[in-house]
Amino acid sequence: MTQGAIPHHVAIVMDGNGRWATRRYLPRVAGHKKGMDALRACLRHCDERGVKVLTVFAFSSENWNRPPEEVSGLMELLALALAREVPQLKNEGVRVKFVGDRAALSEKVRAGLAHAEADTAGNTRLVFNVCFNYGGRWDIAQAAAALAARGEAITEQSLDGALALAHVPAPDLIIRTGGERRLSNFLLWQAAYSELYFTDKLWPEFDGAALDEALADYAARERRFGRTSEQLAPPARRAA
Ligand code: IPE
Ligand code: IPE
Ligand code: MG
Repeated sequence: MTQGAIPHHVAIVMDGNGRWATRRYLPRVAGHKKGMDALRACLRHCDERGVKVLTVFAFSSENWNRPPEEVSGLMELLALALAREVPQLKNEGVRVKFVGDRAALSEKVRAGLAHAEADTAGNTRLVFNVCFNYGGRWDIAQAAAALAARGEAITEQSLDGALALAHVPAPDLIIRTGGERRLSNFLLWQAAYSELYFTDKLWPEFDGAALDEALADYAARERRFGRTSEQLAPPARRAA
């Protein structure tokens, strides 16, 4: 019944930073800072467990609607991460990719993203996708527009190859922290057969033990991809 497998690709909606901060009478941005610490630890833990691709939702297409000071705080955190975290990730063999619409980001941040990607492009230990100004609908629309501009037929395969995450297989496991049970425009296309795991833990509290719980839950699932259980089971041993 159990597959006992470690997911190749884990994707995470890192939700609950704001509530974590508010409960401590701190500004919301303090929660995002703490969330970055949790992400650093989570990436290392994923690597230790043998996960090969980690994709995180850091800023959604809809997060522009937040108060301006929170939006600018998040932009500053991205710039800080580019300066402080990327050199470390490079040394650890992590290939960093940014996924999302860059047009709305400042020239400086765009240059930072491109530099981080080029600098880590040769790394093979783990692929780390940071979804920033990302929305699943944006991705499907930009993929379709790219195919149309090239005069290519739109098929499941061609669309799949034109998506911003075409460099990795679909996520095996999608985790959402913070108690909400929704995707909020994350990986709409790629989530077709992902296992979904929801936890009430707020993102800054999501530690190694919490990740292990999610991995254990995943390992006990049966992924059928439309088939029956019997088709998946190994042939039954014949009675002697
Ligand atoms: C998720 O935490 C991080 C981002 C959306 C950038 P939230 O900021 O949404 O935290 P809550 O949901 O308000 O607690
Ligand atoms: C999803 O969280 C986006 C990120 C984690 C970056 P939100 O907090 O923005 O989602 P909703 O608004 O509760 O659906
Ligand atoms: Mg939220």
